[in-house]
Amino acid sequence: MTTTLITGANKGLGHETARRLIAAGHTVYIGSRDAERGRRAAERLGARAVLLDVTDDASVAAAAKTIEADGGLDVLVNNAGIEGRTQDGGVVGAAEVTAGIMREIFETNVFGVVRVTHAFLPLLQRSAAPVVVNVSSGLASLSAVTAEGTPTYAYPGVAYPASKTALNMVTVQYAKAFPNMRINAVEPGYTATDLNGHTGIQTVEVGAEIIVRMAQVGPDGPTGGYFDAEGTLPW
Ligand SMILES: NC(=O)c1ccc[n+]([C@@H]2O[C@H](COP(=O)([O-])OP(=O)(O)OC[C@H]3O[C@@H](n4cnc5c(N)ncnc54)[C@H](OP(=O)(O)O)[C@@H]3O)[C@@H](O)[C@H]2O)c1
Repeated sequence: MTTTLITGANKGLGHETARRLIAAGHTVYIGSRDAERGRRAAERLGARAVLLDVTDDASVAAAAKTIEADGGLDVLVNNAGIEGRTQDGGVVGAAEVTAGIMREIFETNVFGVVRVTHAFLPLLQRSAAPVVVNVSSGLASLSAVTAEGTPTYAYPGVAYPASKTALNMVTVQYAKAFPNMRINAVEPGYTATDLNGHTGIQTVEVGAEIIVRMAQVGPDGPTGGYFDAEGTLPW
């Protein structure tokens, strides 16, 4: 039996990933920073709910304690993330971004992943086949962001892509440090969710595909990589 925790799984890509992994036989914990939203999602999906705010040390420690007491963890999907839009829904570009905005985005997308991964490492180390999936973005790729004439090049945001580039580095360094684990970064693609005001061009069913696949990777599968549904991406 594989036990899986997905952070920020009360909606969007995390919710769809939970649905698919439950169908594949995983016992899934829906991490949610709001107890009621988590409870409702878990009820819908037949999952377990765990209160987990990735920006809060005490919340993460309590979640780790609960899951440890229930029997441990095999798969961690670091999915919770924020883009940080302006009040009128626009992308925060170089002219508007501040240190405070950077800090806020990094607190969830980077420090949150480190906080959660660090707290669950002892549990993962006890698993026979530990797996970590870090939900990154195509916007993390310095190669893609500098490829003139592409939609990725045209994206003007600063904090969000920088946070995902940092997340890719975190992924690589953890993967090297823990060769017994499969630790990869994935790019779901531009998906219609609350994160982007549903401007994404694909469904969560399509977007969750690579997250689900990497969550199910076996001990001989890749580690320290960066993938979308089509294959390996350039850093
Ligand atoms: N949508 C895309 O086009 C796209 C593309 C590439 C990568 N991604 C990545 O995919 C992941 C999922 O995003 P999504 O598109 O599914 O967005 P979403 O629908 O907005 O879902 C984000 C989830 O993260 C949760 N969350 C935010 N801050 C949190 C915190 N401090 N603690 C715990 N949970 C928190 C949200 O909870 P609340 O409901 O409480 O806010 C929500 O459950 C993110 O990492 C995002 O960067 C998305």
